[in-house]
Amino acid sequence: PAPGWSIDADVVVVGSGVAGLTAALRCEAAGLTTVVVTKARLDDGSTRWAQGGIAAALGEGDTPEQHLDDTLVAGAGLCDEEAVRILVTEGPDAVRRLIGTGAQFDKAGDGGLELTREGGHHRRRIAHAGGDATGAEISRALVDAVRARGMRTIENALVLDLLTDTEGRTAGVTLHVMGEGRHDGVGAVHAPAVVLATGGMGQVFSATTNPAVSTGDGVALALRAGAEVSDLEFVQFHPTVLFLGPDAEGQQPLVSEAVRGEGAHLVDADGVRFMLGQHELAELAPRDVVAKGIVRRMLDHDAEHMYLDARHFGAEMWENRFPTILAACRAHGIDPVTQPVPVAPAAHYASGGVRTDSHGRTTVPGLYACGEVACTGVHGANRLASNSLLEGLVYAERIAADIAATGLHARVPQPLPTAERPAHPLLPSEARFAIQRTMTRGAGVLRSEASLAEAADRLHRLHTDARDALDENGKTAEPGVDTWEATNLLCVARVLVAAARLREETRGCHWREDRPERDDTAWRRHIVVRLNPDRS
Ligand code: SIN
Repeated sequence: PAPGWSIDADVVVVGSGVAGLTAALRCEAAGLTTVVVTKARLDDGSTRWAQGGIAAALGEGDTPEQHLDDTLVAGAGLCDEEAVRILVTEGPDAVRRLIGTGAQFDKAGDGGLELTREGGHHRRRIAHAGGDATGAEISRALVDAVRARGMRTIENALVLDLLTDTEGRTAGVTLHVMGEGRHDGVGAVHAPAVVLATGGMGQVFSATTNPAVSTGDGVALALRAGAEVSDLEFVQFHPTVLFLGPDAEGQQPLVSEAVRGEGAHLVDADGVRFMLGQHELAELAPRDVVAKGIVRRMLDHDAEHMYLDARHFGAEMWENRFPTILAACRAHGIDPVTQPVPVAPAAHYASGGVRTDSHGRTTVPGLYACGEVACTGVHGANRLASNSLLEGLVYAERIAADIAATGLHARVPQPLPTAERPAHPLLPSEARFAIQRTMTRGAGVLRSEASLAEAADRLHRLHTDARDALDENGKTAEPGVDTWEATNLLCVARVLVAAARLREETRGCHWREDRPERDDTAWRRHIVVRLNPDRS
């Protein structure tokens, strides 16, 4: 439907996690009129679920160069070294500015930051808050700062599409707002700069650490707008997610890498530490190595899960250092103080996303992306633990600086009328579950051409059913959050599967059982996808 209302801004930021709110605060500080729109409440989204912390070379003797080395190793040959260098050199000051904004990190006895370790890091370099509630504290601090400055925010606003002008430049977004008074129903924010910070797409799989809102909306919007998207095949599966049964669906409780960082062991049902001898860092190997180690052991032992044993921490350490995880385990009848915790890998993080340069610019003029929705090149084939909050911070700041420096905001946006755009076939909301099961079966932690081909067929059928209903009788599912989310999930799932089929090798978190070797001759390169605008 055509927008019933519109407002104007210099910048519209879509999403309210660490990346979105940092971009918004920095844009506002640079004097730009900024509107934040977000699909649920300001503090919903993945940031507040982040546990382990934020990685930066902040400790005695640590350097950005060492952080760079660990990031490149985890990325398995596909990181953009320049993007990583920016991340690790600008990271420490970005964390200090976050502290200046009000985020309170845990302190060591000497008053400095208390730092922990996680997989793939050769040093203690992860700053954390509330023990294992780092994301919640960062989210609190940023939301408080946005509110304290009286910034304009629109909650419960699902952004539908990018508006562009006759020259293909960004001119704002259309959005569907539910129950927000004056700005209700379908409307538009007109702005010459749009920052996508919509987070990830974990909900494309049945079991994920991501909240229900992580439905790939930003990547789907960017694809519909003709922007380039890269590396979607590299979905990271977190090794240690609390195992709640083989049919558990939706968001699952994370058991942070920091638990292993503080000395927990991965064991099988016989108590054997199976990661010893598989990698010099054993349980603290990069995340893809540990996830594979767990899945191999599960397959060898015909087991549904492995165990994380941290009984030796004792009650006091569990209570003080990992209160969130302790509470989640106990809520499910497991006491980590006296029992090993059942764990299995689950979908966690999209290493790929909307392709950007080092200023967060996408290939559509005026459209920026930062945080999990973006592919800046820092993660390569496998993100290093706790680099995601840092990436959100650093690249959000760079985007604000770029908009202010280039004077982009001075251009008056002249959006093409939305009526000139073809109607989009929407999926019924139940399709979400069919997509999730298809993806878990065919494109999960272990993939093959046969499993991916089956997934591709099933997804194609869902797509053609929706398109035929529109072509033949003008029917489409009722527009609403559920139907748009299902539609966005299908869009990103199809591209993900296509990329995973093309990449005929095993690298980082892309694990093909039919192509078990890494192939640097053919595949030390990226898969970049661009759709014709308005066709998904
Ligand atoms: C964790 O706490 O294990 C998650 C850290 C991350 O995903 O970077």
